Amino acid sequence: MLAKLFITLAHLSPGVKRFTWLRLYQYLARNYPTADWTFMNYGFQPGDKSETPVLDEEDECNRYFIQLYDYVATGANIEGKQVLEVGSGRGGGASYIKRYLHPMSMIGVDFSERAINFCRERHQMEGLSFTQGDAESLPFEDASFDTVVNVESSHCYGSMEKFVAEVYRVLRPKGYFLFADLRNRDTSEKLQAQLTSSGLQVLKKVDITDNVLSALDAYNEKKLALIQNMLSAAWFRKPFQEFAGAKGSQIYERFKDRTMVYHHYVLEKT
Ligand SMILES: C[S@@+](CC[C@H](N)C(=O)[O-])C[C@H]1O[C@@H](n2cnc3c(N)ncnc32)[C@H](O)[C@@H]1O
Repeated sequence: MLAKLFITLAHLSPGVKRFTWLRLYQYLARNYPTADWTFMNYGFQPGDKSETPVLDEEDECNRYFIQLYDYVATGANIEGKQVLEVGSGRGGGASYIKRYLHPMSMIGVDFSERAINFCRERHQMEGLSFTQGDAESLPFEDASFDTVVNVESSHCYGSMEKFVAEVYRVLRPKGYFLFADLRNRDTSEKLQAQLTSSGLQVLKKVDITDNVLSALDAYNEKKLALIQNMLSAAWFRKPFQEFAGAKGSQIYERFKDRTMVYHHYVLEKT
């Protein structure tokens, strides 16, 4: 289902694409206020297990999702820096970054007002805040951040070029853009052109599809059990398994046959 939606939306007008994804995330935030559910990404398993972060007991249940954030956000040193996350969802990633990687401040922005309300209640800590806003028109002054983080959100945007121009605008000179997201294989080259369209320089570029698949495999049983427990409406379980990339879902199979690729980039405003 998600794979079909993903392909269909990619070919629709930017306005329809933005509207459809927004409705979906607003729906999820309204109907599933479950406090324990704080991540909405496919996860990451490092090839070398010695590179897995040491986590507090309370964070172990989110290990694979955290590992994606850890891999992306350690693409630059963010200790003591001012960091913005665009598309922060249910806030688990922004909370992880603030608690473990110690930026001076961490702001999460998301289009979904309901997701922002959830985050404000769920993640209360000094130096971490959440603001409603659009990736294509960020509600911040020029040059106000050292680093922008963006995890599995950009496929929802109407215009990647507008988003990247906004990232460029809010970054300080020598600031970093730490990016990860999935794309159809045939639009992968276009992605690099979009990411560099405002003048950001590519420092690192990695295909992490295998790492994402490995996390989907490792977490599959737990995911199915959680979906079973969380969704009382049986009819919604199958579409939700598709959305969540469970084994056998179209998105999982498309990662396997590599018609869908998961990209990671580190870019710098030189
Ligand atoms: C798949 S979720 C990922 C959330 C989070 N990054 C994570 O990994 O858990 C995508 C998020 O992007 C947000 N989003 C979609 N379009 C957006 C836009 N134009 N501006 C800001 N956020 C947007 C959605 O509301 C959703 O919370």
